[in-house]
Amino acid sequence: MSTPSTGTSTGAAVNTRSLIGIDVGGSGIKGAHVDLATGTPTGRIRILTPDPSTPDAVAAVVATLVEELGDPGPIGCTLPAVVVGGTVRTAAHIDESWIGTHAAAVIGRATGRHCTVVNDADAAGVAEMTFGAGVGQKGTVLMLTFGTGIGSALFTRGLLVPNTEFGHIEIRGHDAETRASERAKELHDLSWGKWAGRVDEYLQHIEALMSPHLIIVGGGISKQSDKWVPRLTGIRARVVPAALLNDAGIVGAAMATSGDSVPDTSGATGTSS
Ligand code: BGC
Repeated sequence: MSTPSTGTSTGAAVNTRSLIGIDVGGSGIKGAHVDLATGTPTGRIRILTPDPSTPDAVAAVVATLVEELGDPGPIGCTLPAVVVGGTVRTAAHIDESWIGTHAAAVIGRATGRHCTVVNDADAAGVAEMTFGAGVGQKGTVLMLTFGTGIGSALFTRGLLVPNTEFGHIEIRGHDAETRASERAKELHDLSWGKWAGRVDEYLQHIEALMSPHLIIVGGGISKQSDKWVPRLTGIRARVVPAALLNDAGIVGAAMATSGDSVPDTSGATGTSS
């Protein structure tokens, strides 16, 4: 595991073993203290995502959560979006005005803390690889989160390829997440069998494209994995539920404050924010 950051923008003493992680989703914004040695979240709080979910509105909710949680020091925050060097490039489940926004600066200003912002599924994947179902897995591992959308995080030899967007692969002429996310199950009132059939078809496409040896399935619906994971029989890869369930994003967000768990791509050759 990476070494926790010791930096602070407040001047107060920072507990480097426990930092705040915030996970911004399409329906809720969750925060907790995270023990970086064990990946354990404590004092979890959730507030509904504001509508419209503009940068200022979301940053204000994040500031409320951070104030309630109280720890001094830097914070890590996820967004359901492509985030390169702190700047947002896409907005499938948050207000479009996020696109082009330097999220780390906006949330940093609202909270008065140094803030690192990363993609939600990347954060969840890093947490699972470090503390959960992916520990010790050196082959190609794909973490998929099923929620408002479908998020993805791809690893090989334990290293993340950031900002993959495999929830937007086209299936039967539609964006995969509009057919197989948790929200699609609710929206179309699909039975477990019918929805699992859609997820299985989606995973077959994924397998044809990148042949992962392990697929970790997360998001809120991973709590009921016994109802659908055993039905995913059409692929060769092993499929396991996320060990951190829906807290993986919060844990990965806190880990991102250390800077090297979810890479900051801002300085990479060929990228621009
Ligand atoms: C977004 C991803 C995000 C995923 C899960 C997708 O619609 O494009 O960036 O990781 O939803 O929230």
